[in-house]
Order: sequence, then C-alpha cells, then structure tokens
Amino acid sequence: MNQGIVRYLSSTIGRKYLMAISGLVWTLFVLAHMLGNLLIFIGADAYNSYSYKLVSNPFIYIAEAGLVLFIALHAINGISLKMRNSRTKPTLYAVTPKSVKGASLSSKTMIWSGSITLVFLVLHLITFKYGAHYETSVDGIKMRDIYRNVVECFAQPGYVAWYTVCLVLVGLHLYHGFASSFQTLGINHPKLNTVIKRFGWAYSIVVAAGFLAVPFYVFFVKG
Ligand code: HEM
Repeated sequence: MNQGIVRYLSSTIGRKYLMAISGLVWTLFVLAHMLGNLLIFIGADAYNSYSYKLVSNPFIYIAEAGLVLFIALHAINGISLKMRNSRTKPTLYAVTPKSVKGASLSSKTMIWSGSITLVFLVLHLITFKYGAHYETSVDGIKMRDIYRNVVECFAQPGYVAWYTVCLVLVGLHLYHGFASSFQTLGINHPKLNTVIKRFGWAYSIVVAAGFLAVPFYVFFVKG
C-alpha cells in the first residue's frame, strides 16, 4: 500500500475516519438484520427460508469477512483512540471546553457501550450461528430450523433481560456514533447537524425497538 495512505490511516484523523466508515457499515448491517428478524412475526417457514437463502448465497462469505474486518477496525481504533485521549486529556484540556463538559451520557459511555456490544456479539454468535442445529423442511427443501433456536432462547427470562440491556446499549452507541461519524467525515453544518441528530435518534430507536420486539414477542406472546 502507498506509504502516504498508511501514514494517513495511522494518524489520529485517519483512525477516526476508519472508525466512522466501519461504524456506518455496521449501522447499515444492523438495520438489515433487524428487518430480516421481523420475519419471525410472519412465521417459522418465512424466518427459516430467509435465513436459508442468506446462508446458502456464496457471497455470504465475502459479507462475513467484511463484517469481521470492519468490527475489528472499529474496536481496535476505538480502544486506541480512547487510550490516547485519556493520556493526553489533562494537557489538551487545560480549560475544559463547554462541549466536553456538556458531552451527552451516551458519548461519555461510548467505550463501555461499545465493549459490552462486542461481548454481546460474541455470545450472540455462539448462541445462534454456532448454536444447536435443528433441521426442518420448507416446500420440500431441507434447511436449518433457526426459528426453533430463537424461540427456545427467548422462552428464558435471563436471555430476554440480557438482550434488553444490550439492545438499549446498542441503541445508545448507534445514536452517538451516527452523529459523530458525520462530523468526522466533514458533513458538518449547523442546519444539517440538527437533521442528522434527529435522524440518528429515529434510526437508533427503530433499530433497538425492532430487535427488542423479537424477544418480547417470543416471551410474552408465544410463551
Ligand atoms: C433480538 C435481537 C436479535 C436476534 C433475534 C438475532 C438473531 C440472529 C440469528 C438467528 C442469527 C443466525 C443466523 C443464521 O445463521 O442463519 C444471527 C446472526 C448474527 N447476528 Fe443477530 N440477532 C439479534 C441482534 C443482533 C445485533 C444487535 C447484532 C449486532 C450488534 C447482531 C449481529 C449478528 C451477526 C453479525 C450475525 C452473523 C451473521 C452471519 O455471519 O451471517 N444480531 N442473529
């Protein structure tokens, strides 16, 4: 890779840029994943067929490799920027600027909401992607009965509670990350900032509520 590009990507601004881009890719992924999950309301066959179509598409491996790469870039850069920030803060902010004093709760807790989301993600993949393999058949096609995994999981109150906490944190992380990535990318105008903030709020609420609908539906309605 060109030396100039490597130097830029290792600089603070370059790493922030990588965080913004990787964060936005995951922002799109979670919306798509949440919408796919809503098929559970249509029924087992719709949910299983959707999952079967996804996992049997050869492009899934490229998509999965991309997701792993982007989450790694996001987490590693997030942790290293936070560490550098903590080390330099006392000298950087001899007088704490108003914007830092007034930083919202979600911005101050980004490192925590991000770390818990990462733990959530690993456990989530173990529970579902690498969980028990039941089989079913839809229109004569044999496929994984992932619907059964979801229903068995959310019949348990512990899982519902853990998912509720994590999805609220995912929503907060998404909300702050959304506005902050636009700032990093230089999309920054007083009028536009309000629109981006409001859109970020709506987006995060829709994503978190859409995900939460699944465990609540399974536990309270189907259970
Ligand atoms: C109640 C909420 C959620 C439910 C019911 C759910 C359900 C599932 C299921 C059933 C799978 C396995 C799909 C398969 O192998 O066929 C899966 C995979 C996955 N989920 Fe979730 N999910 C939820 C929330 C989330 C959230 C919040 C994230 C991200 C922060 C996430 C990220 C992923 C990823 C990355 C995969 C692996 C995709 C792949 O490798 O193809 N999920 N999820």
